[in-house]
Amino acid sequence: MTAVLTGIGGFLPPRAVTNDDLSRTLDTSDEWIRTRTGIRERRMVSEGLSTGSLAVEAGARALRSAGVTGVDAVVVATTSPERLCPAVAPEVSSRLGLGTVAAFDVTSACSGFLYGLATAAGLIDSGTADTVLFIGSEAFTTLVNQHDRTTAPIFGDGAGAVVLRRGAPEEPGALGPFDLGSDGALADLLAIPAGGSRQRSADAGLGHASVPAADWYLRMEGRPLYTQAVERMAQSAARVLDRAAWPVTDVDWFVGHQANLRIVRAVAEELQLPGERVAVNIDRVGNTLAASVPLLLNDYAAGGALRPGHRVLLSAFGAGLSWGSTVLVWPDVKAEPVD
Ligand code: COA
Repeated sequence: MTAVLTGIGGFLPPRAVTNDDLSRTLDTSDEWIRTRTGIRERRMVSEGLSTGSLAVEAGARALRSAGVTGVDAVVVATTSPERLCPAVAPEVSSRLGLGTVAAFDVTSACSGFLYGLATAAGLIDSGTADTVLFIGSEAFTTLVNQHDRTTAPIFGDGAGAVVLRRGAPEEPGALGPFDLGSDGALADLLAIPAGGSRQRSADAGLGHASVPAADWYLRMEGRPLYTQAVERMAQSAARVLDRAAWPVTDVDWFVGHQANLRIVRAVAEELQLPGERVAVNIDRVGNTLAASVPLLLNDYAAGGALRPGHRVLLSAFGAGLSWGSTVLVWPDVKAEPVD
């Protein structure tokens, strides 16, 4: 038995921020952002919306798509948790009316959807759960310094979700083999230094040194990350195709993490995948970390480009460093446009 995808949903916060909007407060331009990243606009949470509420909306849509009202477990992948403690998944489960089922978070930045998918599938493979709601949800723009032109244009908020059920490996929607990897020696290329146990906030009399304001926000070394992203995603995708015994010519859609349009295209080129098989929505959403791959799947399924029987290659790369890939034949699932 194996985990089979049986429902999908996505949600974006309503506030759209264009490159021109950003250019009003940042020393940047629509032209620079578009040509270097492929991004035209992104969504950002506003008052009242955060990772949990985005997850609830996307989760509700995925449950509706699967035609179920209950699951055995809820897993949320996020690197912008509501709070350092507790995990957001139990609250999401409760708000969705799913009761007291197993619920926990997975943290793996932009590869969170692949790591979380493998974890959720593992709950099914091990017999712990028959059905799992798995959500990638991020309000990561709250952790990005909106006055830093090197990071602010890149990220966006949103959530994407899937429902997995126990099924047979030969069914459409059955998740194929996974390839997962990491390189912690390069952890500092993309990090938020403060807020955790290593660099705590100044507080009432406990003697912690004051934390510089910039350390509360994301720090990124774009150039080396770019190179790593292309290499690691291409290698991981090639390994998973090999394990699945899929020749690259069989792939109908490459659904890669939307970090940068040039990165996705370069990975496809490495794999010798023609451009028309590369799914893209970064222009409208930016980099939404763990929500990126499911939002892209939802967009293409809802728009009719991704159809039952299509062979799909999923791959992602992110902070950690971390990366992951898997394959599936797209099942006959209902998908609603995000808005
Ligand atoms: N607007 C205008 N100019 C900008 C700018 C902005 N928003 N951000 C940087 N610049 C400037 C730089 O200061 C630099 O100027 P200089 O040549 O005078 O020093 C110039 O543009 C080039 O900067 P560089 O960082 O070398 O650009 P790049 O082509 O590497 O593109 C990224 C930058 C961030 C888009 C690219 O490196 C990238 O996508 N990296 C991967 C990031 C990523 O994927 N992160 C998430 C991991 S999942």
